[in-house]
Amino acid sequence: MTRLALLGCAAALGMASAFAAPASAADDAKMKATAHLYDTYCSQCHGVQRNGKGVNTVGLSVQPRDHSDTKGMTSIPLDEMAKAIRDGGASVNKSALMPPWNSIFTDEQIADMVAYLRKVCRCDP
Ligand code: HEC
Repeated sequence: MTRLALLGCAAALGMASAFAAPASAADDAKMKATAHLYDTYCSQCHGVQRNGKGVNTVGLSVQPRDHSDTKGMTSIPLDEMAKAIRDGGASVNKSALMPPWNSIFTDEQIADMVAYLRKVCRCDP
């Protein structure tokens, strides 16, 4: 994805501030790479706006988590979030419609995704 598209995507999410004040250039690059992974693998269900309303949700018996929902996302422990992403929804007694990503993501990418989701939901003031 081009830099412009990424910036546009960050702005569309109202996350410009999260990107404008990175802890470091390396963190900033990681967040952008992770946002790109999200756009590639997660947005079809969780939505390009990260609001759980992806194009693939029509007919899903369990709707994907709204990752922009601060309250709902704050209630998920970090280790559960990582496990749900690594081993799928069924591994944390949630819907198996949430697929496992352990064959695609490294443990580091999963940890980065959890950190990214905590930014998307503005869970850490
Ligand atoms: C095929 C559709 C689909 C895709 C693709 C998908 N998810 Fe999900 N996801 C779901 C559904 C459905 C749920 C809700 C499960 C439930 O509440 O029972 C969910 C729930 C979650 C949760 C909450 C887990 C919890 O413990 O409540 C997280 C975090 C999550 N997804 C992250 C991701 C990430 C990151 C990606 C991309 C790597 C992704 N999902 C891709 C369908 C999907």
